[in-house]
Amino acid sequence: MKTEILRLLKERDGFVSGQELCSLLGVSRTAVWKAVGHLREEGYEILAVRNRGYRLEDSRDVVTEAELLSCMEDGPLGGLEYHESIDSTNLRAKKLAAEGAPHATLVVAGCQSAGRGRRGRSWISPSGTGIFMSLIVRPRLLPSCASMLTLVAALSVSDGIKKLTGLETAIKWPNDLVVDGKKVCGILTEMSAELEEIHYVVIGIGINANMTEFPAEVRDTAESIRRATGRPVRRSLLIAEILTTFWGYYSIFMECGNLDGLLAAYQERMAGKGKEVVVHDPAGSFSGEALGIDGQGRLLVQRADGKVSRVVSGEISVRGSCGYI
Ligand code: BTN
Repeated sequence: MKTEILRLLKERDGFVSGQELCSLLGVSRTAVWKAVGHLREEGYEILAVRNRGYRLEDSRDVVTEAELLSCMEDGPLGGLEYHESIDSTNLRAKKLAAEGAPHATLVVAGCQSAGRGRRGRSWISPSGTGIFMSLIVRPRLLPSCASMLTLVAALSVSDGIKKLTGLETAIKWPNDLVVDGKKVCGILTEMSAELEEIHYVVIGIGINANMTEFPAEVRDTAESIRRATGRPVRRSLLIAEILTTFWGYYSIFMECGNLDGLLAAYQERMAGKGKEVVVHDPAGSFSGEALGIDGQGRLLVQRADGKVSRVVSGEISVRGSCGYI
């Protein structure tokens, strides 16, 4: 009921009488009053005026289950779990998926105590400022295709940020989003599969949304949307926007099972295209010019002898010849 009340208050942008809420929702005045109380506890400012009803004051950056549901558009949603605090949304999503949670289940957290990054790193996940979410998908694809979903997600986050805040982010292949050379988003995709069949894929997305400062260890390499635009972003709206965009791109991707339909969009946002990169491969490092990606999501790197190597993401890291990009 909290979700419905929120939706109605947001839609009206003015007072909604208690009586109207009761009849629209088919509940008692006490039930409405209690739900409004819970929303206030969650951080909403809701004005109550005798004979006029309730009005939502300019709502702050609240992220709760009710808030998220009230922002979501019609895209698929297999389920939603919100945790104020959790070890890692990816760990939780993997557990849910292993227990049979449906396609399109989303786990969101206010903060993480053991946020996980790629290549065994941790992901700084402070309370109340970042976006930490993991989406379970169950695509009918070969396991070798799963890593492409990371690129689909990167594209969706980049577009979602642009649409909501106007901020242009570049994609550092395969899946970091950067602003002025500093990272604003990282994606960790994990999969459970058999030889020929994916059981599930968990796409974990961490976004530096409203941080105003960063701990020393990432200060030189991290950026937030708030710092870059000078304005805080409503995290719930951004999550909803990213999901809507993701499902659009996901269906294009699933139509052909590769990135052919998204190549142009991805390459347009790609950082370091046409620049010199160094590929750090456990089998040996090499450098060359980054040409773009192919339909399988591999990075095309032209070496000095003219040969083009197709670099698969995974254990490999790519750096610009003079820095992170
Ligand atoms: C990276 O190293 O760039 C990937 C970072 C991914 C962080 C996100 S935050 C939500 C989800 N849960 C985790 O534990 N990790 C991912």
